[in-house]
Amino acid sequence: MRNPRLARKIPARATAIALPAALLVAVAAFLLAWSPVPLRMWASAPRQALWLSLGENPHPVRLVIPADRPLSAMAQLGKRLFYDERLSASGRMSCASCHLPAFAYGPAGSSPVVRGGPHMTTPGFRAVPSLRYLYRQPPFTIGPDIETGNDIPVPMARQVRAAAGDPRVRKSALAPQAAATNMVPQGGLFWDGRANTLEQQIGGPLYNPAEMDGGTMQQVARKLASGPYAADFQRLFGPNVFANPGLAVDEAMFAIGRYEIEDPSFHPFTSKYDAWLQGRARFTREELAGYLLFNDPAKGNCAACHLDESTPSGRPPLFTDHQFEALGVPRNPAIAANRDPQYYDLGVCGPYRTDMRKDTQYCGMFLTPTLRNVALRRVFFHNGMFHSLTQVLDFYVNRDIHPGRFYPRNAAGRVIKYDDIPPRYRSNVDRVDAPLNRHRGDPPALTAREIREVIAFLDTLTDGYTVSRR
Ligand code: HEC
Ligand code: HEC
Repeated sequence: MRNPRLARKIPARATAIALPAALLVAVAAFLLAWSPVPLRMWASAPRQALWLSLGENPHPVRLVIPADRPLSAMAQLGKRLFYDERLSASGRMSCASCHLPAFAYGPAGSSPVVRGGPHMTTPGFRAVPSLRYLYRQPPFTIGPDIETGNDIPVPMARQVRAAAGDPRVRKSALAPQAAATNMVPQGGLFWDGRANTLEQQIGGPLYNPAEMDGGTMQQVARKLASGPYAADFQRLFGPNVFANPGLAVDEAMFAIGRYEIEDPSFHPFTSKYDAWLQGRARFTREELAGYLLFNDPAKGNCAACHLDESTPSGRPPLFTDHQFEALGVPRNPAIAANRDPQYYDLGVCGPYRTDMRKDTQYCGMFLTPTLRNVALRRVFFHNGMFHSLTQVLDFYVNRDIHPGRFYPRNAAGRVIKYDDIPPRYRSNVDRVDAPLNRHRGDPPALTAREIREVIAFLDTLTDGYTVSRR
């Protein structure tokens, strides 16, 4: 007879091992299936993968954020000017009418352009950008794609691409003016980079007949002299400042520029993503999935242009590489100027920027904007063509797969792709960077669910998140 005690013991011992093992396998399988972290990361860096799966940043950083100091007298004056409606022809428009503080100094509504001028009826030409995070905007230059000015990390994918002779690099290498690398325009203010400094930029809206329409320099200077801040002007710039209208207006612009640089409301860095970078917030599963797609060179590939890593010295990411790209955004019939079929807003090569009209390889290129606070916007791209992030993402992934969804048809029924760029410049449109590298019949780079995940991640870029733990 077999020993009954032994018979009981063997299965007991087997269960003692098998049960926890099975449990471990089940937990691992569940984690793998549930976690959006890709298998290859589990294989190469399992601890990081686990940490990420829990929503944590595996490598928290210390962000170097501009210090919160009291505004200088100059910036305080700039603040009053920023909100001064008297400087406009209508008497009803200040910088803050288009750049609303509650919308990250961007526009409030879903109208693609804002109306200004003497009666607030003259339509503008371009969508109003956010004024946040411009404090590190480098001046406009044209240089090699792999340059790392302004302490900006160059994504590895971009360096590799440049080194491997990607089609765009080769294309421009054939051009006489280009060296071995791709020469790309970068930096500057406005969608076409035509202003270099915040103070230089301010003359634009102040005098633009479709915006504040402030009149001549003399007229603006007279308004400054009769403003409630006239005494501050004299204290800061001397008793005779108003004797020289040019000087008074220059100083006013300098003051507004100082306000935009000094006031923390222009660069708060209080998004959930900033907290996450510092190890003080946890992503939801959906946010994490979106973050991974945003960074995956074969999927969203967004981080190739909208940089999301802090610089080596700890400066927070601005979600732009400050470079220009032609995405081929559809022509917006809601913009009045577009009623003229001869009119094209081509960004770097004009018409608002005039120094690069002959550099037609840059026609159709616009500055990559920050994505911080992008979820607050209801108008997207330089011409405000889209009104939701879902539409924007749909465009990115389906532009060349289902062009009929975005572009009109000609008389013969053919879809006119990249219709807001004259045919001879359409080859400037980016067709090599994912997710813009697909063709008819290809699967899109992101599924509908993945698009929702990317948007969940973009939502973490909105300032004003309250950190619940330290
Ligand atoms: C009528 C609406 C309107 C008003 C008023 C206005 N802006 Fe703008 N602002 C715009 C538009 C539209 C653009 C983009 C124009 C372009 O790219 O050509 C812009 C661009 C800018 C930029 C460049 C941002 C970037 O990302 O490059 C700055 C800075 C700026 N405005 C500051 C100001 C200041 C300061 C004032 C007040 C003196 C002001 N704006 C008044 C509509 C306005
Ligand atoms: C090749 C560079 C590049 C890539 C890759 C890229 N973008 Fe962009 N993005 C741009 C440029 C340039 C613009 C402005 C284009 C214009 O207005 O004509 C832009 C504009 C946007 C805007 C509109 C912002 C605003 O203020 O109007 C959003 C949103 C956006 N991108 C999100 C994304 C997401 C999400 C991804 C990844 C799926 C992505 N981008 C990939 C270059 C890029």
